[in-house]
Amino acid sequence: MSESQTRSAGATAWRDLPCGDVDEEAVGRTVRLAGWVHRRRDLGGVVFLHLRDRTGLVQLAFNPDWTPGPVVEQLGDLNPEDVIAVGGRVEMRPADAVNPDMETGRVEVRVEAMERVSEAAPLPILVAIPPDEELPSEELRLRHRVLDLRRPEMQRNFRIRHLAANSARRALADDGFLEIETPFLTRRTPEGARDYLVPSRIHPGEFYALPQSPQLYKQLLMVAGFDRYFQIARCLRDEDLRADRQPEFTQIDVEMAFVDEDDVFAAAERMLARVLSEAVGIDLGGPVPRMTHADALEHYGTDKPDLRIPWRLEDFTDALSGLGFGIIDGVRDAGGRVRGFRVPGGAAISRSRLDSASATAQANGAKGALWLKRSETGWSGPPARFLEGEPGDRLAAAHGIEPGDLALMVAGPDSETSPSLDALRRTIAADEGAVEEGLRWTWITDFPLFEADPDTGMAVASHHPFTMPDVTEPERLLSDPFSVGSRAYDLVLNGTELCSGSIRCHRPDLQRAILKVLGMGEDEIESRFGFLLESFRYGVPPHGGFAMGFDRLVAMLVGTTSIREVIAFPKTTAARGLLEGAPSPLAADELIELGLSLR
Ligand code: AMO
Repeated sequence: MSESQTRSAGATAWRDLPCGDVDEEAVGRTVRLAGWVHRRRDLGGVVFLHLRDRTGLVQLAFNPDWTPGPVVEQLGDLNPEDVIAVGGRVEMRPADAVNPDMETGRVEVRVEAMERVSEAAPLPILVAIPPDEELPSEELRLRHRVLDLRRPEMQRNFRIRHLAANSARRALADDGFLEIETPFLTRRTPEGARDYLVPSRIHPGEFYALPQSPQLYKQLLMVAGFDRYFQIARCLRDEDLRADRQPEFTQIDVEMAFVDEDDVFAAAERMLARVLSEAVGIDLGGPVPRMTHADALEHYGTDKPDLRIPWRLEDFTDALSGLGFGIIDGVRDAGGRVRGFRVPGGAAISRSRLDSASATAQANGAKGALWLKRSETGWSGPPARFLEGEPGDRLAAAHGIEPGDLALMVAGPDSETSPSLDALRRTIAADEGAVEEGLRWTWITDFPLFEADPDTGMAVASHHPFTMPDVTEPERLLSDPFSVGSRAYDLVLNGTELCSGSIRCHRPDLQRAILKVLGMGEDEIESRFGFLLESFRYGVPPHGGFAMGFDRLVAMLVGTTSIREVIAFPKTTAARGLLEGAPSPLAADELIELGLSLR
């Protein structure tokens, strides 16, 4: 399968074939075409129009030699984006008029008849934007999304999205998964964000929640004996938005019974391999490598490492402490470390750039960044004067620092240095052009079960509360929750979390203990999750699964960083639909009907 197979089918009432299909085979035929007026060129007497539809562009040639006078006259009134229907003969273009950049560039249609089907008003944003011109602002693009979506680049994004969805669906079906839909009007379940709520008219004062994901339903489907489920599921989360987050987004949601991590990873990779190859012709390569959460933090400072950057974090504490450099000794004595990374050839990075690196470190919670440059004659940088002679040689040998290299470091507790070093590694690599080409996938495994809420210190679930802990006694969970690991995993691509999942907690006693650690009492557990725990009383298979962020996957496939480019009608970062004007206020009588009053 390829992009060409997303072509719309042949003849309809209005046309004999789509624009992009007009090729040499059609030469000599008289055809009817319909589409939008894309671009127009007047060459004194001869007029060329590019006619566009979803499949591409074709050149229409108007010439008094073959075009009747009234049609030529009508041309003067045509606007960009008018919808027209034409009839004419397909001919080869003269050799010097062949356009190699256009798929239909060897032929043209000599127009004999034309109907202006629908007139376009003056355009608020252009559709035919020359390649060297900037796009309109995103606000204008979203406000006039219908026009924006007509652009061939956007049409391509949605062809690829369609191919990817179809490949995923077929791959999973071939692998024995059943597609089952789950409710939209549901009960609140914790997925880490706020819920969108829907007031019930029939039960005033009660609310449905829109699903943050089908998490609990897919687990119930396992208990219900379906064994392998999938759904290309819409999820709704009221959270802060950014380039890779929308309030409504799509997941390829998967759950399997009687599995462990190896089974889940293999199923995810089989699906991914097919999507990549069928939608864009990319090879996933061999099995996706794995890295533990602890290793990811140690070597990259983040659980979403961008492995295209060849630099790894190292611990410089031993080489730099005990030399008399107060900052470093102080950090070591307080239980912290000096960690950093070597930038080969980085000694050429300017002082002002290093100052802004320090600001980056501060913005990410550290006190600042330390730098050291090695030249043929010695060291420079704040700790340099402690490195004359043996200590400098020891540092160079231990960390492979060559003349011409830079070491960039942050000192402090790991909780401060990790985020700073992650940010520094990414920004310096981008500046230095050190980000390698290609797709670097990795599974991150062995997450902790809980993390501490930065504001309250309370335990929150690292993944979600339905994840299997790596302990078997509920008492361990209750007495020392932060020491407990989990069987959760993420799939990371080039520094982005694409997919996430876990082996689930199928033991009611452990599940109750997890919910208790999260601060819920028996009554709350019963009222919110009683239905899940109740189902677990009647024979529950061990199960696990994952959800792949489909918008993020498609963004990667088309080569964009913003998922808004691959969602037909996305919200702005302020969660507004600019095209239709959502959200919108309710009239007083509508509020009354829903049993609501506004404060
Ligand atoms: P999680 O919440 O990690 O897991 O979501 C899974 C994947 O969905 C994508 N994603 C988003 N994409 C766009 N906009 C958003 N607001 C957004 N939020 C998440 C990410 C993420 O990796 N039920 C669990 C999965 C499971 O355990 O099976 C879940 O939803 O790519």
